[in-house]
Amino acid sequence: MFNVELIGTGSCIPEKVVTNDDLAKIVDTSDEWITSRTGIKERRISTGETTTELAVGAARSALESARISAEDLDLIIVATLTPDDYLPSTACQVQKHIGADNAACFDLNAACTGFIYGLTVASQFIRTGMYKTALVIGAEELSKITDWTDRTTCVLFADGAGAAVLQRGEQQGIISEIIGSDGNKGDCLTCPALPPRNYFIRDDSTKESRSEYVYMNGREVYKFAVTVMPECILKTLEGTGISLSDIDHIIPHQANLRIIDAAAKKLNLDASKFYVNLPRFGNTSGASIPIALDEMAKANRFKKGDLIILVGFGGGLTYGAMLIKWTMGE
Ligand code: COA
Repeated sequence: MFNVELIGTGSCIPEKVVTNDDLAKIVDTSDEWITSRTGIKERRISTGETTTELAVGAARSALESARISAEDLDLIIVATLTPDDYLPSTACQVQKHIGADNAACFDLNAACTGFIYGLTVASQFIRTGMYKTALVIGAEELSKITDWTDRTTCVLFADGAGAAVLQRGEQQGIISEIIGSDGNKGDCLTCPALPPRNYFIRDDSTKESRSEYVYMNGREVYKFAVTVMPECILKTLEGTGISLSDIDHIIPHQANLRIIDAAAKKLNLDASKFYVNLPRFGNTSGASIPIALDEMAKANRFKKGDLIILVGFGGGLTYGAMLIKWTMGE
């Protein structure tokens, strides 16, 4: 098996900042409620940028940081639940825009855990020797599936994209990973696609309008999250000889500060181990972890040899975590 290293990160976010006070003008809410229940203060919302455009921006930024050209890519995976089109996939559209002519491309939907799923899939291709270099992008525009009259969800979700480049390397950058799902709890977080509709369906009931928006049972998702986050973190350490106290940074899915604090408490860890940028970005689903990763990398928060855990949960319900050694730098 080959080693896999993370060699670059990137991100791209819409320009428009929407504050809690802005939302209080649209729905019956307040900065106080949103801040105290979630930690979110503001978020970025598309004013026309598409999921593909955000993904392309993140891809370009990651290639620049990895100092490779698009033609070096063997694989592009885009984790998204909010593509612009059924066809072609977002990954194929990214390929076209950046000129990654040698890459195999596909999208993957594991909701907010999508980026960890994407990294996991890409790693397997590199470990086995099938591919040498892969680009994984988490790109979301949750604002287009958010009901802007529903105060229970519209205060949470946001738009953005982040990316990472993985490559076969000398050192073991990706040390371990786990992904999993619990489809039995899928009803907690849903967003319907098209119902059956074709010439042969005569039953009018299928033509009834269905919601196009995200529905969430916040309490159930909360309970799931505070249980799986600590479990995933501990599972990634199993069999690695690395203990929790050796970990330098944990980058959690940026859904809710209370969830992150509860996970830290369960693990007896100082909350400062967990990187948090959700006050500025809200919940960008599959983009939240790579945006945070890129933000930390660009701010030189990592030094060579640092041990980092990425951990996420989301619709499906899905969960996952990855243990990485930072191999870049001096
Ligand atoms: N502003 C003001 N009041 C609001 C509100 C808002 N934006 N949203 C809901 N409320 C009200 C509710 O209507 C309810 O009022 P009621 O008691 O009169 O019925 C009250 O606030 C409490 O609502 P509740 O849903 O019990 O709040 P909560 O403490 O569970 O917090 C969440 C709600 C969504 C913040 C919380 O459940 C959560 O974070 N869940 C996890 C969600 C998540 O991470 N999703 C992403 C998955 S990737």
